[in-house]
Amino acid sequence: MIDLRTYWHPLAAGAELACGKPLARVLLGVPLVLFRDASGQVAALHDRCPHRHAPLSGGRVRNGELECPYHGWRFAADGCCVAVPGMALEKTGKPLLASFPCQIAHGLVWVCLVPDAGTPPPAAPAVTEKVDYFFMTDTVKCTLQQAAENFLDGFHTHFVHAGWIRRDNRRQQVRASVHHLADGIEARYSGEGLQAGLISSLLEGDRQGSMGRFRLPGVAEIEYRGQHGLNLLVTAWLTPESEGRLRIHARVATRSGVLPSWLKRLFLRRLFGVILRQDKQILEQTSHNIARFREAGLEAKVLDSRLDLLGPSIRQLLAGETLTIGDGWTMQCWL
Ligand code: FES
Ligand SMILES: [Fe+2]
Repeated sequence: MIDLRTYWHPLAAGAELACGKPLARVLLGVPLVLFRDASGQVAALHDRCPHRHAPLSGGRVRNGELECPYHGWRFAADGCCVAVPGMALEKTGKPLLASFPCQIAHGLVWVCLVPDAGTPPPAAPAVTEKVDYFFMTDTVKCTLQQAAENFLDGFHTHFVHAGWIRRDNRRQQVRASVHHLADGIEARYSGEGLQAGLISSLLEGDRQGSMGRFRLPGVAEIEYRGQHGLNLLVTAWLTPESEGRLRIHARVATRSGVLPSWLKRLFLRRLFGVILRQDKQILEQTSHNIARFREAGLEAKVLDSRLDLLGPSIRQLLAGETLTIGDGWTMQCWL
């Protein structure tokens, strides 16, 4: 297995930390509190006051210091206690709380639990053109593997998003090919043409090509291209909060210049809200069903078909194994 603790993970949108309130987050089972210090830098500490273990995220930020809600001890971004109300505090310079590397990148707040020399930078969206974008965020009870597969799997859309993305009775023969990336895997589809789903008919004309890609540690991205270049790029960063619970930050980007950005945000937020809810529902139903059978002692492996273009490779990437599918592997299918 790859060690997810050695990667940067996004825990919040930058705008969520703007108001001076601390934010409670969990990363790989570790409860954290995020806040901004007096210089505006983002900071991440264990969400546990060393005094009586109250959650610091229930407190407030005062002059860039985090104040515990119980007795008001105050902490700096490096975890040092800087005030104990009711007594004069001797400065020790020794942190009482663990602090973690924290930074803003690509509009999100990122934390790494165990940085090392080989830690890759926060994963950026694959955008070359000028785009309008906005963020959507949610939590889902499922694994990283399940969410990444779901997001990149075109063959559930005819059922889970019937009419919204595709229709089962309006399939098209397409050519799909799978390509290795430096840190992941990509599926490319060609021959799709005009789409039957509502979202596509609003956003696209003829589709020239589309891509679904997964990159470590947990970025799932779909890209639709038309005659004039990029039509839609949705980048979903999947952050494992704990066993079976994910936080998702989705960045929805469209080519700028066609419609005003606020108008696109207004209707795309609603449309993608529906899609996210539909995916969340099927993912949580699936997780619940897996748990029922596990409890009954009837756990079983999932069964892959040839249409699971990326799922087995995502499993191998997360396990730190070599990909078995060949670079450039191609098939015809009905999407
Ligand atoms: S528990 Fe935090 S100050 Fe007492
Ligand atoms: Fe979906």
